[in-house]
Amino acid sequence: MGNPLAGRKIVLGVTGSIAAFKAPHIVTRLASFGASVVVVMTENATRFVTPLTFETLSGTEVIVSMWPEKKVGVASPEETLADADRLKHVHLSEAADLAIVAPATANIIGKMAGGIADDFLSTELMAMICPIVVAPAMNVRMMESDAVARNLEILKDRGVIVVEPDVGRLASGAVGRGRLADPDLIADRALELLLPEQDLAGRRVVVTAGPTEEPLDPIRHIGNRSTGRMGFALAERAARRGADVVLVSGRTFLDPPAGVRFVSVGTTSEMKDAVMAELPDLDLLVMAAAPADYRPAEVSDRKIKKQWERLTFELVRTDDILEGVAGAKREGQGVVGFALETDDVIANARKKLEAKDLDLIVANDATVEGAGFECETNVATILGRSGREESVGKVTKAELADVVLSRAVAELGWKRDADG
Ligand SMILES: Cc1cc2nc3c(=O)[nH]c(=O)nc-3n(C[C@H](O)[C@H](O)[C@H](O)COP(=O)(O)O)c2cc1C
Repeated sequence: MGNPLAGRKIVLGVTGSIAAFKAPHIVTRLASFGASVVVVMTENATRFVTPLTFETLSGTEVIVSMWPEKKVGVASPEETLADADRLKHVHLSEAADLAIVAPATANIIGKMAGGIADDFLSTELMAMICPIVVAPAMNVRMMESDAVARNLEILKDRGVIVVEPDVGRLASGAVGRGRLADPDLIADRALELLLPEQDLAGRRVVVTAGPTEEPLDPIRHIGNRSTGRMGFALAERAARRGADVVLVSGRTFLDPPAGVRFVSVGTTSEMKDAVMAELPDLDLLVMAAAPADYRPAEVSDRKIKKQWERLTFELVRTDDILEGVAGAKREGQGVVGFALETDDVIANARKKLEAKDLDLIVANDATVEGAGFECETNVATILGRSGREESVGKVTKAELADVVLSRAVAELGWKRDADG
């Protein structure tokens, strides 16, 4: 299959599970994609598989200890340099494109969740800025323990991708959930993350993100709690899938993704103007922003003073962006909306899908923990024009972004999607 991951660096953390004997297969598969793999083992992992096995397969020194070997006598300049390099080894976390922990023991999962850095692997993982994949493997009672369940939730909330273990016969003889996922699947997940399918190549995608702000006076505005994370994730994933992306966003604290044209807006009316300006040329519009529905009828040109006990503002409806789009879009242009609801989530989302002539709507229940604003994850139901209704469990916003884009591609008939 060529070398699709040539030049990409993957750190594989191996911990002290009986499933460690399957980790060499992950190295072989990643290497077959052309990736350079650096294996980091815990001391306990070396009781199950020798570092030599991984060194032979990866062609790179395996790192176990935080400390370079002590030398007797005076080291040569070359040796001293090598040691200095070793001491700098948090540089692995800077250079890595992806980190995988497989198998991941209950112990390393707990350390990652709790912020413990007491060996080389846990220290590196804490400093990682790249995506991290964790593939747990353990006894069923450990897997179902409250501690592990909670720790995995903490990791997912931080954006760690968990490749869930299989159900089956475990090393202990017990049958249950806890068997390391298929090593091929773990390696393929790396391929998907680092090299998404280019199914949006040649398509122009416009994504809206973040809140809008409706001014009351020169100092204050009416806003909302949208962070923009969902929209930024959609823009980033669409760009990675080959699209030419424009991100129209209200104020957020996020950096625009690389390779995306960024249009900054303030009010709902400005967001509408920016979207309508892009509409003639776009193939897919994804409206993940949270524009204000109401704005103050009048905006004071001076700061409103603290001189009244009660102050009443009249609010008027803002322009409905999706309504404007529905009336002006061309045949073949796709529109995806988002609905964040607290009541009758699915029914209200379906109504919006029909009323606004959308191809797809992503319904979020704001009352569910780990969904909606101010978190890294989302829990959603995707409804399609063709009647599709798909629940997506708690996943990172980046993962949900990929699912939404895949479903949009399928709904619009741009390509049959495999599981759609
Ligand atoms: C034979 C044997 C098999 C083990 N298998 C697992 C396992 O699959 N998952 C797990 O979480 N711990 C397992 N353990 C326990 C871990 O090795 C132990 O918790 C250790 O502290 C993990 O250290 P590490 O995370 O630094 O590698 C096993 C222990 C033994 C002796």
